Amino acid sequence: MVPVYVVLLGPPGVGKGTQAEALSNDLGLPHVSSGDIFRTNLQNQTELGKKAQAFMNRGELVPDDLTIAMIQDRLEQPDASKGAILDGFPRTPAQALALEKILDEWGGKILAVPYISAPPNVLIERISGRWTCRAEGHVYHAIYNPPKKPGKCDIDGSELYQREDEKPETVTRRIQVYMEQTTPLIAFYRQRNLLAEIDGTLPIEQVTEQLLKVVKKD
Ligand code: AP5
Repeated sequence: MVPVYVVLLGPPGVGKGTQAEALSNDLGLPHVSSGDIFRTNLQNQTELGKKAQAFMNRGELVPDDLTIAMIQDRLEQPDASKGAILDGFPRTPAQALALEKILDEWGGKILAVPYISAPPNVLIERISGRWTCRAEGHVYHAIYNPPKKPGKCDIDGSELYQREDEKPETVTRRIQVYMEQTTPLIAFYRQRNLLAEIDGTLPIEQVTEQLLKVVKKD
């Protein structure tokens, strides 16, 4: 069977991680988040984590060579042999070209590139209310998706925390970096007939419904 991939595109805080989790459960493919992998490396103070830290804290992108090597390594793991839900990668044209090359070599196929969008005021409200689980990166929102027990992850019981890059000035920079470096991918994937526009302002369950329609093409 050909390994299949879904690439979730969209600005910081639009809900890529939340939706990647839902798609992963429905499709039985692992959720591969470049941001989560960087944060795990940071927590474990690996060489990669130390190199990525300064970029992440400033809201800048980690250099392409480090990011591409890290994702290729993750996609080579046995649990990703049937494919993956990609959240936060690719984020630059160089990363998108590298992914294309890797998948060509493996005979892998991108099923769809859902582009989830929402205006900046919605993104800022979502990021400022977000709580993330320490163990696995499961995501909650104080208002829109609260955990059953305050401060604890529903799935694994671990502590919930607010990310270092959630400070207002860093969030503004992340949105700016997204506009400059990631939005060219909208045209890149539209040209390849893979782009599907999704209204990210809808409630979580409705966004999931739209995504499943696009990915399953029904
Ligand atoms: P990363 O972790 O990828 O962050 P991001 O793309 O900025 O996105 P977020 O994780 O902030 O948001 P999200 O879209 O996943 O939204 P979420 O589901 O959490 O990257 C962090 C950093 O790592 C980067 O700045 C960079 O330095 C580095 N990096 C990562 N990838 C890289 C790459 N490829 N190249 C170079 N550097 C890279 O939802 C947000 C909140 O809203 C949650 O509280 C959630 O509960 C809530 N919510 C979600 N959907 C809805 C909804 N429909 N209605 C109401 N609330 C909702």
